[in-house]
Amino acid sequence: MHARKLIFTALVGLLPAGGTLAQESNANALELINQNCVRCHDNSVYGRPEGARRVNNWDELHKQVRRCELMLGLKWFDEDVAVVSSHLNSQFYKFPVPQTQTAPAE
Ligand code: HEC
Repeated sequence: MHARKLIFTALVGLLPAGGTLAQESNANALELINQNCVRCHDNSVYGRPEGARRVNNWDELHKQVRRCELMLGLKWFDEDVAVVSSHLNSQFYKFPVPQTQTAPAE
């Protein structure tokens, strides 16, 4: 028990100063995208100019991420969809985030 706590403390100590949950979920999003999403389209489909892109707001972005994920049969949790949508939004789309949703700050 005590040893476990020490190990945990040591691991946390390894995080870079300012290492936050947001950075962690960002890394998680990148991993999910790299593993599952670059097969058919690269990052250039995200945030194309209005008219060319399929998604035009935060809600549609979530739905599209879910649609692609379901099509692939990935069985992501809601959090995975949220984390990837937030990542794509902050990197590419820059839609205003509804008050009720929290996007990881980057
Ligand atoms: C089996 C192929 C395939 C895979 C794998 C795939 N997608 Fe897609 N995705 C598509 C197609 C086709 C489109 C529509 C592209 C277009 O309109 O030019 C699309 C479009 C999108 C768009 C909308 C782009 C826009 O126009 O704004 C998003 C967002 C997106 N995908 C997210 C994802 C995510 C996240 C993943 C990983 C879970 C993923 N996709 C994996 C086929 C795929």
